[in-house]
Order: sequence, then structure tokens, then C-alpha cells
Amino acid sequence: MSENFDVIIIGAGPGGYVCAIRAAQLGMKVACVEKRATLGGTCLNVGCIPSKALLQSSENFHTATHALAEHGVVVSDVTLDLARMQARKGEVVSANVKGVEFLFKKNKVTWLKGEGRIAGAGRVVVDGTEYGTKNIVIATGSESVPLAGVAVDEKQIVTSTGGLELDAVPGHLVVIGGGYIGLELGSVWRRLGAEVTVVEFLDHTVPTMDREIGRQFERILGKQGIKFRLSTKVTGAVTSPDGVTLTLEPAKGGAGETLKADVVLLAIGRRAYTAALGLDAAGVATDERGRVRTDAHFATNVAGIYAIGDVIAGPMLAHKAEEEGVALAEILAGQAGHVNYDVIPGVVYTWPEVASIGQTEEQLKAAGIAYNVGKFPFTANGRARAMGDTDGFVKILADKTTDRILGAHILGPDAGTLIAELATAMEFGASAEDVARTCHAHPSLNEAVKEAALAVAGRALHI
Ligand code: FAD
Ligand code: NAI
Repeated sequence: MSENFDVIIIGAGPGGYVCAIRAAQLGMKVACVEKRATLGGTCLNVGCIPSKALLQSSENFHTATHALAEHGVVVSDVTLDLARMQARKGEVVSANVKGVEFLFKKNKVTWLKGEGRIAGAGRVVVDGTEYGTKNIVIATGSESVPLAGVAVDEKQIVTSTGGLELDAVPGHLVVIGGGYIGLELGSVWRRLGAEVTVVEFLDHTVPTMDREIGRQFERILGKQGIKFRLSTKVTGAVTSPDGVTLTLEPAKGGAGETLKADVVLLAIGRRAYTAALGLDAAGVATDERGRVRTDAHFATNVAGIYAIGDVIAGPMLAHKAEEEGVALAEILAGQAGHVNYDVIPGVVYTWPEVASIGQTEEQLKAAGIAYNVGKFPFTANGRARAMGDTDGFVKILADKTTDRILGAHILGPDAGTLIAELATAMEFGASAEDVARTCHAHPSLNEAVKEAALAVAGRALHI
């Protein structure tokens, strides 16, 4: 055995690298195994960060071509330099992954480069070399779910990874799956000029979203030119040099039809990634969806082996993985690490953005919880008008008896930033009145949050 550690973490995504840093801060001798050439996992390399870079760049292009004239800013001959846009995205990714490498050095976390395999409790093998450790953390993340009959080649039929790398704007992009990835990357390529059709199995997009928000969101995306084929499934794809021919069928059965695409983006969800980890040999139990089973303290059924992030149950979000990484490091240090799963925001970074936290109206109804609802549209917010971004509204759901905030949903400009106020309020167990009585700067988008909180008690001021 070449070296011993207090903890070896397998996977350096937001779950693993944050767990490594926190464990090192708490005085542990830490190693993190990563097989990718750079640290940061899916999120920094092929997920959150490159997608947000392209969303920002494509939004800038769209603003220049569609929105500046209204502000009296006249630009002519706006052209797209996609190669530069992609190069900038690469620079953003590179700065972020190097940042994690710097943090590892600063905190004296050892990066074990290569593929990690669990040889048993307390033993991890990395590319043939065995290391000893008191604790093992599985943080191996997730991968794209495949679809029978739709073979990914990352050129004509792509996952999000290929969808972030296209070197030409497709004439017609067909997205299979109207979830987070489909709508974000669909928006990128739509803004850059592609015709975009989203084929979704259900009768609505982003299944986890509050339906009232979702319906308005779909209308807004529709106005931006994204076409939706809801309640429809894809049953096959045939590629040729001219493009891809998809076979579509109604979700509930019926006559099929074909749809031609230049590029197809397959985005029907992600699944836990545990290949080559040696889970069976180590006796680590997984659930019916291949996720590593853990208890409330991230412990698997094998003593000394833990798991966090996308590879376990719960929303597949970077900040959820990070919170789990911190909580587990603190538990390993004998502290009371904890994640509040009731207060994890979810944000779709389209324009407008959609942000939600806590319960939807549908969930409250299903649980038989009595609630009051307060809503406020951005059309009545002075700052949104000044910006020229009045699409959407804020919706706050509060307990009918106690007024405690149970859920909040925002469709609108910078919703992903605005939701943080409500996350903080919910962490403190705030009532809608607490938010309503808090002084908010004027003119700010946050005033729409305050007004929605006032509206819970039927006393919004500006509508
Ligand atoms: P990952 O980030 O998947 O990291 C796991 C790492 O483990 C990988 O680097 C992998 O190479 C490594 N690994 C696996 N097996 C081994 C092994 N045996 N040995 C060594 N290394 C191994 N979430 C958000 O919250 N916000 C967003 O805006 C967002 N945007 C996204 C956009 C896209 C296109 C995608 C695909 C995802 C996005 N996500 C977003 C989801 C987010 O990326 C994941 O929730 C997050 O990365 C999960 O972190 P993780 O640490 O659990 O796993
Ligand atoms: P998703 O779960 O968000 O959406 C998948 C969609 O595909 C669903 O609407 C589902 O009903 C539909 N679907 C499933 N099977 C289908 C089929 N056969 N035909 C047509 N539609 C089908 O998954 P997605 O978009 O792939 O993203 C994976 C995960 O990555 C997300 O759930 C999220 O956790 C994370 N992510 C987060 C982002 C963010 O936080 N902004 C951005 C991108 C990804």
C-alpha cells in the first residue's frame, strides 16, 4: 500500500471537490481521485459552467440583434463569430477548473489522477496503485440517459456534451426532452438562429415546476420561436449525410410520423454513474435506479464507505452536491453536518429565468395543506420596466394558518438571483409578512418579491 489517508474521495465534481476542501479544512489528510484531465466534474467541464457561458453569449447576441433598438441603441451589421464564442466558453471553463486545482494545492488535498476502484472498505485502487484510507466517499456523479433507437454519435445526435460543442448553428435542432438541458441549450441555439423543436413525452415541460409558472414559461418560449411537440415520444432515429430523420408517436400510442433535423439533442435525464467503481465486489448496495443507497448521514451499507451528489437520490444539482460534500466532511470530523432538503433552489437559466424553491401549488394540494398565495407581475415593477424585461411574475405560497413560507416560484429577469432572498427567508422559517415588512431597495427587481409577499395577505401596494 503506497500511502494512507483519512479520507479518499472518488470524483472531483462539486460534491467531491467541495467535500475534499472542507475535510482538509477540518484537519483531515485528504485525497481526491479524478480520471478526467481537469478537476470540477460534469459541472465545471461539460455542465453548469460551459452552458451558462453560452447562455450569456447567445443572450448578448440576441440582445444586439433584437433588443437594443428599443433602447435607442442602433447597431448594424451584427454578425456571429461562433468560433470566438466557443473559445470564450473554453476560457471560462479553463479558469474555473484551474481554480479548483489551486484550491486543492492551497488546502493540501492530494489529487490522485486516474480511475478509482474500491477494493474493499479502507482500500482504493487508482490505475493499479492501492491506497489505504479510513473513509471512502463515492462522488462519481451522473451520465446522460440513453434512448433506445436513438444512437448518440456526438455529431448529429448529441448529448449535452456535444450540444455545447457544435461548430455551426444547426438549421433545425430537435431536442428530445423538455427539461433543464433541453430548454437551456434549446434557447442557446434558438437565439443564434436555429429552428428549434422540443419533443416532450409529458403534456408539459420541466415536470418539477409549478404548473402555473410552467404554462406561462412555455408561452414565452413559444413567442421566442421554440416549437413544442408535447405528449409525444421519439421511437427511432436514422442518420444520413443530409441529417437525421426521427420517428415520432403520440405518447399514448397512435399513428407515427417523421420529423427531419440537422442535429438532435438527446436530453431525457441523467442517471447515476458507477461504472468501473467495483461496487458489487465491495458489497455496496444500489437502488432500483442504480443510485448508491445511503442513510441520512450519507453512509452506505458498508462501514466506512459514504456517497454524495448525483450518484445518490435527490435533485441532480451542483449546489445540492456541494451541500452534501460539506455536511459529510463535517460528519466525518465528528460534527453535526446537515442538509435541509426542503430549501434547495432550482433554476432554469433561460431568459426569462425560472427559479423555484420549496413546494409547488400542486404538491401542497396533494398533501392537503391549506395555503395562501401571493403573486406579483414584473409588468408592475419599475425596474423591470426600465430594463425592458417585464415577462413573468413572482408567486409565494404560505401556510394558511401560520403564514410560514412553504414555496416560492419566480418566472422573470434574474429569477435565479432573486430566489436567494426567499431561500434565506425559508431557512429562518420566515413568514410571508417577514419578507413583506423588510425594506427593499427601490427601484429593484426584489421589490416584486416584497409585493408578492404583501399579496399573500391581499395587500400588495402597486397592483
Ligand atoms: P460530477 O460533477 O458528475 O462529478 C463526478 C466526477 O467523478 C467526474 O469528474 C468523473 O470524471 C469522476 N469519476 C467518475 N467515476 C470515477 C472513477 N471511478 N474514478 C475517478 N473519477 C471518477 N446543476 C446546477 O446546479 N446548475 C446548473 O446550472 C447546471 N447545469 C448543468 C448543465 C448541464 C449541461 C449538465 C449536464 C448538468 C448541469 N447541472 C447543473 C448538474 C450538475 O452538473 C450536477 O448536478 C453536478 O455536476 C453533480 O456533481 P457531482 O459531484 O455529484 O458529480
Ligand atoms: P430533466 O429530468 O430535467 O428533463 C428530462 C425531460 O425529458 C423531462 O421533461 C421528461 O419528461 C422528458 N422525457 C423523458 N423521457 C422522454 C422520452 N423518451 N421522450 C421525450 N421526452 C422524455 O433532464 P435533463 O434536461 O436531461 O437534465 C438532467 C439533469 O441535469 C436535470 O434534471 C438537472 O438536475 C440537471 N441540470 C440542471 C440545470 C440547472 O440547474 N440549471 C441545467 C441542466 C441540467
